[in-house]
Amino acid sequence: MQFTQVFGSTIGKKLLLGVTGLSWAGFAIGHLVGNLQLLYTDPTPFNKYAHFLTSLGGLLYFVESVLVLSLLLHFLYAIKVTLENKKARPDKYEVHRSAKGVSKRGFSTASMIYTGLLLFIFLIIHINNFKYGTFYTTMIDGKEVRDLYKTVYEYYSNPVNVFYYVAMMILLGTHLSHGFWSAFQSLGINGKRFTPFIYSAGTVVAVLLAVGFVFIPVYIYYMGGV
Ligand code: HEM
Repeated sequence: MQFTQVFGSTIGKKLLLGVTGLSWAGFAIGHLVGNLQLLYTDPTPFNKYAHFLTSLGGLLYFVESVLVLSLLLHFLYAIKVTLENKKARPDKYEVHRSAKGVSKRGFSTASMIYTGLLLFIFLIIHINNFKYGTFYTTMIDGKEVRDLYKTVYEYYSNPVNVFYYVAMMILLGTHLSHGFWSAFQSLGINGKRFTPFIYSAGTVVAVLLAVGFVFIPVYIYYMGGV
């Protein structure tokens, strides 16, 4: 079977959606862990960490390229699958049921395309605000480095920005809670006992990520002050 045939089939598309989604979920976990250093009152650990990342040079560009490609594929295939699903089932189901009872096709499933689109827009705004945001500098170990900590603290001193982040992070949790479960289904990792476990584990990880990402701006807003 050719590449185009595999990823042109319904299961191929869902597989691609799952793998690209999981790569972003993996990034989100790493990103949250790194960003927790923003909670220190001392800006040095976070600025050192951010400087370390940028000093990776080629490796960072490689990871960024993989992420961008992964996101574009995720985005394109999500639209494809949604349009195909709509064509196949033009009528709106009142209650979503599967062959073995109530389907997991609840609010988060139906809303995947909308939460996804809002998160896509969020990402563009987010990278523009921080990565390409105000460039302050500071001295660490006698070297002038970017004071990204100050950029972030300044941004979250505005309650409108904090509110926007809180709303988007709740959407992220909703998107991921269904995404995890769906990705494992597409990868064929399921079973009588495993499916409920994956469903619960996916929900727990999604909630932890959302809570962690919500906590940072709220904490900075109340405790910060540059
Ligand atoms: C409280 C929430 C968040 C905070 C405080 C935060 C903070 C930051 C900061 C400071 C940067 C700039 C890093 C640099 O230029 O070295 C950044 C970049 C980035 N963030 Fe976030 N972030 C948050 C949530 C998210 C979420 C939920 C995602 C998506 C899963 C995300 C995806 C990205 C991406 C893709 C970059 C660009 C990375 C790169 O090109 O090197 N962020 N974030």
